[in-house]
Amino acid sequence: MEKSRKKFIDVIDKAIVVGNTMDRDELLFSYKGILYPVALCSLEVFRAMESFEARSDDVILAGYPKSGTNWVGQILSDLVATFEKKRLDEEKSVNHEELEEFPYLEIGDTEKYERMKKLTSRRVILTHLAPGNLPKSIFKNKAKILLLIRNPKDVATSFFHFSNAWSALPSYETWDDFFVAFMTEKMPWGSYFNYLSEWNKYAADENVMTITYEELKENRALGVKNIASFLGISLTGEELRSVVERSSFQSMKENSLKTHGALGSMLFRKGGVSDWKNLFNEEQNEKMDKVFEERIARTKLGAKLKE
Ligand code: A3P
Repeated sequence: MEKSRKKFIDVIDKAIVVGNTMDRDELLFSYKGILYPVALCSLEVFRAMESFEARSDDVILAGYPKSGTNWVGQILSDLVATFEKKRLDEEKSVNHEELEEFPYLEIGDTEKYERMKKLTSRRVILTHLAPGNLPKSIFKNKAKILLLIRNPKDVATSFFHFSNAWSALPSYETWDDFFVAFMTEKMPWGSYFNYLSEWNKYAADENVMTITYEELKENRALGVKNIASFLGISLTGEELRSVVERSSFQSMKENSLKTHGALGSMLFRKGGVSDWKNLFNEEQNEKMDKVFEERIARTKLGAKLKE
């Protein structure tokens, strides 16, 4: 754990420094029509990523920024680590060399995908990418995909606060300015509505499970159990309870300096549902409802978000 987080914190610290030295309008670049932060992503790494070879036992967590990816990433890594430790102990196998990478697939350096070949199964990989921009082998080799979605109003709210806190992302003088950008596809990793409608095409696949931030918030124990069973991970009640406890907002926030460095205080903000009510005015509320109705409401993912 400690070792992997060192890598995470190094990448984050570097991105903070890079972000601080850049003008606001230089912070994003476009790749295949979608914007990404220069401090985290690059054309070279996107090109190198095409060589990434997925395994059928890889666990991919797909989630748009601010949908709770660090939270569910913690749950997945904890489930897999607990299960694999047990399995290896039982087989009396030696521990494999600890090799760790920054958990988001599209963030790192061009050598990352070569190094990832040496990671032992199961690899837990996070991504904010839309499916069309992921390496084809993820679908061809039928990696397990956990698709995490969240109420778009809370995603926008969380993204607004995060953009103003983290130097790697363009900040906004007002919430109204941010709202316009969010609704007009000017966000890093693209528009959330495009993201949802693209992922919707995969939502019925047998190797894809969808979970909402809201359902996990309502019943974390059930969410963790469902995720474990989707992955074919069987743990004792006690082990599952520990995973649930370690993923509470409180415990992740308390641990965040160690796990996320300077990013921790920006990331673990409120961790709740409906904070959008503190920002949206009536017109913005109606506008987002309208786009949601037109584009997402009648899809499988739309139905899940409305549950
Ligand atoms: P808020 O800004 O609404 O508080 P991501 O990891 O994809 O960037 O998502 C960040 C959001 O997930 C933040 O939302 C953060 O507080 C929330 N989050 C992180 N850990 C959480 C936890 N254990 N329980 C609930 N929400 C959590």
